[in-house]
Amino acid sequence: MIIKRIRRVIPSRLPLLRQLARAGAASRLPLMAIAGSSPSTSTSTAKAKRAAQPRAVAIWLFLCAAAVFAMAVIGAITRLTGSGLSIMEWAPITGTLPPLSQAEWNRVFDLYRQIPQYQLLNHGMSLAEFKTIFWWEWVHRLWGRMIGLVFLLPFLWFWLRGSLPAWLKPHGFALLGLGALQGVMGWYMVTSGFADRTEVSQYRLVLHLSLAVLIYAYMLWLAIRLVWPEPLQSPRASASLRRGLIGLLVLLGITLASGGFVAGLRAGFSYNTFPLMDGYLIPKGYGLLQPWISNLFENHAAVQFNHRLLASLTVIGCLGIWLWSRGQELTAAARRAIDAVALMALVQFGLGIATLLLVVPVSLGALHQAGALVLLGLVLTALYFLRPRYS
Ligand code: HEM
Repeated sequence: MIIKRIRRVIPSRLPLLRQLARAGAASRLPLMAIAGSSPSTSTSTAKAKRAAQPRAVAIWLFLCAAAVFAMAVIGAITRLTGSGLSIMEWAPITGTLPPLSQAEWNRVFDLYRQIPQYQLLNHGMSLAEFKTIFWWEWVHRLWGRMIGLVFLLPFLWFWLRGSLPAWLKPHGFALLGLGALQGVMGWYMVTSGFADRTEVSQYRLVLHLSLAVLIYAYMLWLAIRLVWPEPLQSPRASASLRRGLIGLLVLLGITLASGGFVAGLRAGFSYNTFPLMDGYLIPKGYGLLQPWISNLFENHAAVQFNHRLLASLTVIGCLGIWLWSRGQELTAAARRAIDAVALMALVQFGLGIATLLLVVPVSLGALHQAGALVLLGLVLTALYFLRPRYS
C-alpha cells in the first residue's frame, strides 16, 4: 500500500526533487571547498602541485648553472695562481680525499717535483707553498664532483616522482654526457702540462673552457624555458632582431674562446697598454709565425690583438642591438634583458681593459671570467624572450 503511494507521488514530484538536489549541491560546494574535499579543489590542488614541480625543477637547474658558473671562476683562479698542475693523478673516487698523512703529502709533492713546471718555474718551492697550489686544484676537482652529484641525484629524484616534463629528459641525459666529457677533458688538458712544457696546452684549455660555457648556457636555457614555458611573446618584434641576437651570440662565443687563448698563452702579461700595443694599433709582430694560420692561436701579440678586436666588435654588436630594439615593439621583459646586455657589455669591456692594464691580478682575471658568463646569460635571456613559441 505504502509502496504503491510512493510510486504514485515520486514521478509527479521529480522536477522539484531535481531542483532541490541541484540547490543542495550548490550550497554544499563552498563548505566542501573549505574542508578541502571538493572535486574542484582537489583538481586545483593537483594543478598547483603540477605548477610547483617544474618550478622546483627550474630552481634545481638554476642552481646547477650557478654551480657551473662558480666552477668556471674557480677554474680561472686555479689557473691564475699556477695551481692547475699540482695534482698528478686522476682518481675520480679516491681523489675526493686530500692527503691525510705527512707521508702522503711528501708522495704527492715528489710527483709534482718531477714535472717541468716545478723544475723550470718553481724550483725550490717548499711543501707549504706546494700545499697552497694543491688546495686550489683540489677544490676545483671537488667542486666538479659536487656538480655531478647535485645534477644527478635530483635528476633521478625528480624523474622517480614524475616531476620531469617529458621534453626535459633527453636534455638531462645530454647534460650528464657533457658533464662526464668535461671531467675527461679536464684531465686531458692537465696531462698536456706534465711533459715538455710548463703550462697546459692553450688548445686544450680553450676546449675545456668552451665545454664549461656550453654546459652553463644549456642549463640556463632549460631553466629559463621551465620558468616561462609560454614565452613572454613579443609578437611584433621583427625576426631580423632575433637573427641579429643569434649573430651576437655566435660572436660572443668566438670572443669567449679567443679570451681562452689569451689566458692559455698568458698573453695578458705582455702589451699592457690600451688601445695601442707597443705603440701600434696592430702590433708589429702580428704575422711573425709560419704557417701564418698558427699566429691566430700561438702568437701572443696576435692572440691578444684578436681578442681586443673581437671584444670591440661584440660591444658594438650589443650596443647596435640595443639601438635597434628601441624602434621595436617589445615586451617589458625583452626590453629589460636587451638593456642589461648593453650595460653588461660595457662593464665587461672595462673589466678586460683593467685586467690588462693591471697585468692580470687574480681577482680581476676571475672577475673578467665571471663577467663573460654573466653577459652570455643575459644574451641568452634576451634571445629567449624574443624566440617564437615552442610547438
Ligand atoms: C665583450 C668583451 C669581452 C669578453 C666577452 C671577454 C671574455 C674573456 C674570456 C672568456 C677570457 C678567458 C678567461 C679565463 O679563461 O679565465 C678572457 C681573458 C682575457 N681578456 Fe677578455 N673579454 C672581453 C674584453 C676584453 C678586453 C676589452 C680586454 C682588454 C683590452 C680583455 C683582456 C683579456 C685578458 C688580458 C685576458 C686574459 C686574462 C687571464 O689571463 O686570466 N678582454 N676574456
